[in-house]
Formats: sequence, structure tokens, C-alpha cells
Amino acid sequence: MKLVISAAAMFLFSTASLAKTCEIKVEANDQMQYNVKEIVVEKGCTEVNLTLKATGKLPKSAMGHNIIISTDKDMPAIIADGIKAGLVKDYHVAGDARLVAATKLVGGGESVSTTFKTSALKSGENYVFFCSFPGHSGIMKGTVVIK
Ligand code: CO
Repeated sequence: MKLVISAAAMFLFSTASLAKTCEIKVEANDQMQYNVKEIVVEKGCTEVNLTLKATGKLPKSAMGHNIIISTDKDMPAIIADGIKAGLVKDYHVAGDARLVAATKLVGGGESVSTTFKTSALKSGENYVFFCSFPGHSGIMKGTVVIK
């Protein structure tokens, strides 16, 4: 009995010591710009809590922003499908397997967060982040790197 308990305790301890949630914060403004060109995920992070803050004043219907993370290859199709989904769906298809992460759309003064597992980022792929609001991703995009 003692042995069983200590093995369970060791398992819990090792799981807790391996899990690490990292906080990443990005801002977007009314000039259709993020404040970063690169999102850096540290190697030790098992999970990322990603927060987007819209620092402008315009409503999301006019100058909405979100953050989508995907491979660079998947980006054009995700944007096309997002436009079909429309504003009410935050310009992305919830549950789309190509999405590593996707926040809801926010307007000026609003914030939104999402959490994703870093195991979704496969080595040998190039990952990008972008805003899927129609017409924004030409400027509102950057790279996601693991360091
Ligand atoms: Co935008």
C-alpha cells in the first residue's frame, strides 16, 4: 500500500514539474498593426496563454482584430474560409484542425485570450500568426518561432 501511494505521488510531482504555461501578450491598433513581428515561444513552454489587446477605439465591425496561428501553407485557405464564416464567427471556423490557435475578434479597448499546447507546433513546419479580418493579413502577420 505504501509503495502504491509513493509511486502515485512521484507521478504527480513529475507531471507538475514538466507542465509550464507561458504568457504571451500582443497588441493591435487602429492602424491595422500588431506591436510585434514575431511571437517567440520558449522551448520549455508546454502551453501558451495568448492574449490580444486592441488598443484603438474603432469597433470590431470596422477594425476588428484576432490572432490565428497556423502553418504558412494553411494561411490562405484559413483566411478564405474565415471570410465565408463572417464577422459573427470571428472570421474563422471554430474547431478547424488547421488552427493551432485562434482568438475571437476584438475591437478597440477589448482583450481576448486563448490557450494552446505547444505540442501542436511540429518541427520542420513554418508557423505564422495573422489577423483574419478581411484585408488585414497583408500587414497583420508575423512568424511564430520556438527558441
Ligand atoms: Co485585424
